[in-house]
Amino acid sequence: MSEKTKIRVCVKCRAAGEPKGPIEDRMGSHLYREVLAAAAGADDLEIVPVECLKVCVRPVTITLSAPDKWTWLFGDFPLGSASDILSAARLYAQTSDGLIAKDEMQPALKLGQIARVPPG
Ligand code: FES
Repeated sequence: MSEKTKIRVCVKCRAAGEPKGPIEDRMGSHLYREVLAAAAGADDLEIVPVECLKVCVRPVTITLSAPDKWTWLFGDFPLGSASDILSAARLYAQTSDGLIAKDEMQPALKLGQIARVPPG
């Protein structure tokens, strides 16, 4: 079983007013590619595209997960936020159970919280 921290990025998320178009042109796809590039060479992270996490009003949505840890769902990540997402993933990776203390979260993460789901 992989012990990597998995970052899922919704590639279907669109910015407010952005027309429906090819997925690869959407804000979520652009952010996914940003995160992928920013994480290049990081063998402790796995970046996975996902098509809709059903929180479409909070683009771009992402999840952080790892085996036997709580899974988090966050939203409101704009283009250019790949470094914030990687910082969040590193913070998450340092925990034994996936629970990130609120006072350790950077502002983007604190404001973007949507849900957390226990392991198993
Ligand atoms: S399109 Fe991204 S959460 Fe639905």
